Amino acid sequence: MIKNNLLQSWEERYQLPSFPKGWYAVAWETHINEKDIINVNLCGQKLVVFKTESGEVSVLSAHCPHLGAHLGYGGVVEKDRIRCPFHSWEFGTCGKCVKTPFINKPVKATVRKWYHQVANGMLLVWYSQDKKEPDWFVDEVDTAGWTLPIFHEENTWRLRTHIQEVAENGVDTHHFVSVHNAQEPGTLANVDFSTHVGKWVSHSNTLMMGEQVSVVATLALQGLGVEHVYVNIPEKSLEFRTYIYITPVDKEYIDIRMAISVKCTGREGKDKTLLRILTPKLTNEIKQDFDIWEHKIYHEKPRLSPTDGPIHALRCWANQFYE
Ligand code: FES
Ligand SMILES: [Fe+2]
Repeated sequence: MIKNNLLQSWEERYQLPSFPKGWYAVAWETHINEKDIINVNLCGQKLVVFKTESGEVSVLSAHCPHLGAHLGYGGVVEKDRIRCPFHSWEFGTCGKCVKTPFINKPVKATVRKWYHQVANGMLLVWYSQDKKEPDWFVDEVDTAGWTLPIFHEENTWRLRTHIQEVAENGVDTHHFVSVHNAQEPGTLANVDFSTHVGKWVSHSNTLMMGEQVSVVATLALQGLGVEHVYVNIPEKSLEFRTYIYITPVDKEYIDIRMAISVKCTGREGKDKTLLRILTPKLTNEIKQDFDIWEHKIYHEKPRLSPTDGPIHALRCWANQFYE
């Protein structure tokens, strides 16, 4: 099926730059095997992620500074180096050429090394247009007393929309009714946009096992790429967290990854059952937004209603990430 939004030019839909600075998810750490090379598209750039024999993870630009071969197509990781498939130049984890075949001293050449960190099991890469050091690092969530975030391959989606839509959606309290089957618009408390971490507590309701229940969600957005949500549903004595990662792939596409964890009940079987019930529910909930995000346009000066939530404040906060 041809998606109609593909027929509308990106420039008609969005006037925002596609690549705000920030930390972006590229791979689950457990998916990076020793000596494997993972090809990554991030903010219009091609990167390779690999793990050396000693277990060090490195993220480099994918194209060799010699004649431009892609290190991820036929390249080989050996000991603590990656070898280019074309003429076998070798690069260390910091991107420096450490061996050029048939000459004693390696040619002075470097592949760009990208700053990365691992937080709650996710490998995150820092993107900034000026290629400077990270302005901040992502704070990990303390997982003591919680199940580890469970990641399913089917909880990864590629959408033709702008990364800011996901953040805006969290404060857009009125759409909880029209899109997510809530009975009334949500309300927000403790809204804080004073740093690179945007925070708020959202009070709303949702349909759960045929009943409307109150939901208190505490959200923290660390830039536009990492969203941690803690949810408490007192009527069901249920507490869970979602880890949502939004990564700009190229000018027009983003990847969304979601992982879920529940507060340990003390019974492993019960935790597993909760996760089994929650996963399809939360998957369905996030997917309810996709058609809207993929087809909407961005109004720089929207006409807002008083029940819309602090969309303007969120946009002012997001503005700090556009260089
Ligand atoms: S292109 Fe990589 S070694 Fe020649
Ligand atoms: Fe939504």
